[in-house]
Formats: sequence, structure tokens, C-alpha cells
Amino acid sequence: MGNNIILKVDSIKKYFPLKGGGFRKPHKWLKAVDNVSFEVKKDSVFAIVGESGCGKSTIARLVLKLLPLTEGKIYFKGEDVSYLAGDALKRFRRSVQIVFQDPFASLNPRMRIIDTLSEPFKIHKIVPKNEMKDRVVNLLEKVGLNADAVNRYPHEFSGGQRQRICIARALTVSPELIVADEPLSALDVSIQAQILNLLQDIKRESAISLIFISHDLKVVHYLSDEVAVMYLGKIVEKARTEDLFESPKHPYTELLLSSAPKIRVQSDESGVMDKGSKLKTLSSKLITDIPSPIDIPTGCPFHPRCPRRFDICDKVVPELKDIDGRRVSCHLY
Ligand SMILES: Nc1ncnc2c1ncn2[C@@H]1O[C@H](COP(=O)(O)OP(=O)(O)OP(=O)(O)O)[C@@H](O)[C@H]1O
Ligand code: SF4
Ligand SMILES: [Mg+2]
Repeated sequence: MGNNIILKVDSIKKYFPLKGGGFRKPHKWLKAVDNVSFEVKKDSVFAIVGESGCGKSTIARLVLKLLPLTEGKIYFKGEDVSYLAGDALKRFRRSVQIVFQDPFASLNPRMRIIDTLSEPFKIHKIVPKNEMKDRVVNLLEKVGLNADAVNRYPHEFSGGQRQRICIARALTVSPELIVADEPLSALDVSIQAQILNLLQDIKRESAISLIFISHDLKVVHYLSDEVAVMYLGKIVEKARTEDLFESPKHPYTELLLSSAPKIRVQSDESGVMDKGSKLKTLSSKLITDIPSPIDIPTGCPFHPRCPRRFDICDKVVPELKDIDGRRVSCHLY
């Protein structure tokens, strides 16, 4: 594993047992994450994109060790962290932080901001008591909030400000990797751009790597260096961001792109689709018809929705192959 790789995820699986299995009956499994591999480079942003239920948050929870793996390995800076426990797990938890989708649910409503933000300092014993307030004010400034926020409670802030506080909390322990699981989806579109800019600034100023999870490709375009597109628990395409946006290869990526409004990060988004797109009508229809990971279609899992499917697509599972320096799983290649 090269020195420039901070996280390596190797063939990980997470299967959840479904009710109904039992004695002499084969267990049915929900394959939430099914043989996923990727690497996150130091100081870079790796995006994971896909529709609801494709396994994005499950990957986040596996990486953060909040959920045990069914199979596979996870390496952090070359060390196998797949089955960490005790002090080693505590150290790992300091290096990898998460920012969740809902900034209100993830802040304790009864705790003042100073207490929320100084808690990690206390747990990890990294800041002397008399320096605590200065450090908290420093963090607040870093995420664009005033020092007077320290004595206030979460309900006194807007959604965007609350997400800034959550980001500040993730930064308290100077993590090396932040997993941001849809950090923008609960926010107004105009606020989303501000939080994106903040993440971009933080990335620029400190050597932090980011796994950025989103169902929204336009957001990913702005922030990420590499993108993995997921479909029903599997990566179907993985590429450098420019390559993916310039020439998407997998038909699912094409559909996601054709239905995504053009990025205009600084302005408000109307959500209007490109009128010239041939795939527009098809994609907007297909995008609403989200499949279930309980009954994964035979052959290529995407075949029931694929506008380019041909005879073998419903029979043979395509492998994830190397194509022009990227990975794609589709019989067209
Ligand atoms: N603890 C669990 N027990 C059983 N099934 C689960 C559990 N957690 C997740 N799942 C299922 O695994 C699949 C993937 O869920 P996951 O939350 O990872 O998707 P997601 O891509 O994050 O979706 P969303 O965009 O809605 O957040 C879903 O079908 C979900 O219902
Ligand atoms: S393998 Fe066939 S069905 Fe699957 S994405 Fe490619 S063309 Fe479409
Ligand atoms: Mg999720």
C-alpha cells in the first residue's frame, strides 16, 4: 500500500439477515454492501454517489467501525483496522471523524456549544482546562462563527450554522480523515453552497482527507478528486472526477449526470434540467423507480432500468474492469 493512501477498503461486504430465515430454511440476506473496494489518497476528496438505499451510509459506518464487517478488510495508513478494539480503536476514533446529514439530530439540544465542542478535548485529554475556551473560539472562527456562539444552545442556530458547529466538532481532534455522510441534504440549497465552500477551505488549509457521500452529482463535481458511483451495494464506476464528468461510461452514471442540473455553486439552483438532454425524460422517470437490495435483479443489477441493455445483460453479472485508467462494470466495455 503506497504511502499516499490514507484508507484502503478491500472487498468489504455487509449483509443484514432478513426475517423469515430459520431452521432448515436458507437465510435470506440483504446485501447492503457487496464486495466494495476503493482507496482514499491523502489530502484528497473521495466521493461516493448513488440513490437512496445503495449502501452509502453502511460504508460510512463500516469505515468508522460503528458496524462490524461481514467480510473484507479495511486499512488505515497501512494498518489493518478491520477488527480493532480497546485503545487501538480509541486512537483510530480520534483520527477518523464523521459529519452527519442532520445537524440538529447530531447535536445535544441541552448542551451549550462550548460544552459540545470541548467534550472531545476532555475525552482525549488533549487540551489543558485553561486553554479550552480559546481553542473552542478558535474552532468556531475556523468554521465562520462568532465567539459569542460559545454560550448558546443548538436551537438558537439555523441549519447551516448547526452544520458548521458539527464540522467544528469533527475538527476538534485534528482528524486525518473526515467522513461526511450527506452533510448538505438537510440544508437549503443556498446554504449548501456555503457549507461546500467551508469544506473546500478546510481541505485547503489542513491536510485532511474526506470521504464525501452524496446522492447529488453536481455537489460532487465541485469538491471531489475521485468518484465512486454505487448501485445496489456495488461500485459500478470509479474514476477521477474530471474523467467521470467529461465522459461517463456506465449507463447509470450517464443517467445520473443527465438528470443532474449543471453546477452553479455560488448561485441558487433552480433544479432545471438541461433541455437538450436526450436522456432527460427517460432518466427522470427511471430515477424515481428505485430498486430494492432485497431482490437484486439477475445478471447486471441495473438491467431493468438500463436504456442500453442487450441480450446478455439479464443473464451475466458484469465484472468491474479496468478501462482507460478507471473501473467500470458493464458488458458494453
Ligand atoms: N441495520 C440494518 N439492518 C437491516 N438493513 C439495513 C440496516 N442498515 C441499512 N440497511 C439496509 O441496507 C441498505 C443500504 O442502506 P444505507 O443506509 O447504507 O443506504 P444509503 O445509500 O445511505 O441510502 P440513503 O441515501 O437513503 O441514506 C438499505 O436497503 C437499508 O434498508
Ligand atoms: S451491463 Fe447491460 S444492462 Fe448493465 S449497464 Fe451495461 S448495458 Fe446496461
Ligand atoms: Mg445514507
